[in-house]
Amino acid sequence: MILPIYVYGQPVLRKVAEDITPDYPNLKELIANMFETMVHADGVGLAAPQIGLPIRVVTITLDPLSEDYPEFKDFNKAYINPHILEVAGEEVSMEEGCLSLPGIHETVKRGDKIRVKYMDENFVEHEEVVEGYLARVMQHEFDHLDGKMFIDHISALRKQMIKGKLNTMLKGKARSSYKMKQVK
Ligand code: NI
Repeated sequence: MILPIYVYGQPVLRKVAEDITPDYPNLKELIANMFETMVHADGVGLAAPQIGLPIRVVTITLDPLSEDYPEFKDFNKAYINPHILEVAGEEVSMEEGCLSLPGIHETVKRGDKIRVKYMDENFVEHEEVVEGYLARVMQHEFDHLDGKMFIDHISALRKQMIKGKLNTMLKGKARSSYKMKQVK
């Protein structure tokens, strides 16, 4: 089922999300719905707060990039209770966008290498060192679980430049190709 995506201005996007336990109701269905919603909106990542749930669940697909990066073929993963333990590596600048910020694309600087812990869909714990594009997507998505969005990482000047677009969202007048839940 495709769910509406919560847009900038929705308070849930600014909450610190909670870890969940294996008895969380209908988790498999929730994850399936998140994948469907993400793919339908042409996103590569989706965090549960973006569908209105303040819980630590994220889906990531890198399959759309597999034409250029064959190693990403069929990369579809759900991350439960993820936490970033360490950000390291070279600082790299890359343009980011977000389904909760339709029409905004800005360059964000992030470390190229991270150490993360998370559980898979079966609540098996993993700790990994991740580099490159996946490290970028993970930092963006896991930020959502701490109430952060990528625009928090841009300069005051750039923020000023996108103020008009943000205000449009706060007025509930943003447009996109997918279903959204705006504040008004
Ligand atoms: Ni995002």
